[in-house]
Amino acid sequence: MNTATNVGIEELRQSAIDVLKLNDLGTMTSAAPNLYPHMWSWDAAFVAIGLARVNVPRAITELRTLLAAQWSTGMIPHIVFSEDSAGYFPGFDRWDTASAAARPAGVKSSGICQPPVHAIAVRHIVDRGRENGGADQEAAEAFLRETFDAWLAWHRWLAEVRDPEGVGLIEIHHGWESGFDNSPRWDGPYARVQPGPVPAFTRRDTLHVADVSERPDDAEYTKYLWLVQQMASVNYDDKAVQGVVDFRVRDVFFSAIMAASSDVLAGLADEIGRTSDAEELRGFARRFRAGVASTLDPATGLARDYDVLVDEWISTDTVSGFAPLVSGGDRAVLAVQRNTLLGPDWMSYPGLRFPLPPSTSPSSPAFRPRTYWRGPVWPFLNLLLGWASQRDGQSEIYETLKTASLRQLADLKFGEYYEPFTGEPLGSLNQAWTAAAALEWIGADA
Ligand code: SER
Repeated sequence: MNTATNVGIEELRQSAIDVLKLNDLGTMTSAAPNLYPHMWSWDAAFVAIGLARVNVPRAITELRTLLAAQWSTGMIPHIVFSEDSAGYFPGFDRWDTASAAARPAGVKSSGICQPPVHAIAVRHIVDRGRENGGADQEAAEAFLRETFDAWLAWHRWLAEVRDPEGVGLIEIHHGWESGFDNSPRWDGPYARVQPGPVPAFTRRDTLHVADVSERPDDAEYTKYLWLVQQMASVNYDDKAVQGVVDFRVRDVFFSAIMAASSDVLAGLADEIGRTSDAEELRGFARRFRAGVASTLDPATGLARDYDVLVDEWISTDTVSGFAPLVSGGDRAVLAVQRNTLLGPDWMSYPGLRFPLPPSTSPSSPAFRPRTYWRGPVWPFLNLLLGWASQRDGQSEIYETLKTASLRQLADLKFGEYYEPFTGEPLGSLNQAWTAAAALEWIGADA
């Protein structure tokens, strides 16, 4: 393998497997050893994609653990807590989901959600099972049949509860729901959040990074906790939350994932004879694809979010602007988007360590190369963009992302995110979904 460090594919593969083992808590994989000692919803989906490359039954276990935490409404919560009650803040108690009527008994979870990448993970599990044949194939196909209704309920909940007007965009109530926590996308909405009294808190996340500026700051955290309190005050009741929460945004990237994933789930539905459900899911895919397309900024060609509380578009130079590349859509729009992504404000920005998209364009005044979602490169996101490129037959961009990602990950650090110019790993090392991304990029090559 041609990497800067001459690490071979087999060594990378073995190191990635070791990271997943290091994080393996038995029936769940912690998102990272210290910073994130619990299961995160969309991390778990990417982890399952990586695990499916090495151990199909273990990949199935990962998603079963996540599904055991699914609320009776259909929502899949963004954190499923492990037994580690001290390592992370805000922990289960601070989330205060104990009185939420929809939370399953005996499972500790948060009360918000994250983007629905899970059907894509199920697709990977079924595909790997079929490639392996025998017991893996049987287990993967049985898993699909057994869990299909749960995934369908999740997509229905998103479509009905988070897009009640049918505009094709998912409404989120916390930056954490987007997964892009402190992205410049949310600066406007958060500027309008005026926290009331928030009980004193001690953060844990800042203990686990080399430099606190790699994480959101305390003022941001106070707002994050305030929103949690607002939702807890109505026991996370779906209808009531909309009335009390100070953050209501239509998230274009979440919506693009909803579109892509609904198509994938529709394909799986067909394979198990669930024809009318497949039709319904294709309807979701069309609706959210159209929703994503409706957000394009005529000036930049990038997709936008929408702030419901002030009726305003949110235009930023962030990687979420490429939501159409994930949702799929009009060929001409996608061609322009690919050009922009490969161009000088993004993957070809002068001086980048690897041609990989920073989370915020270095051309933007909001760009900060070391701070979480304000600039660093996120490996799992490159995998998602690669998956979508391959789906759309775009081999040039797929190969560019793959080659650059494998070179980036050959540092064997499995950083949560990377400084775009120096290639330094930041946030947590040994991040599970980064290891999973390496395994999936290596794929059948090893
Ligand atoms: N991503 C958040 C954190 O950093 C939680 O969802 O803790």
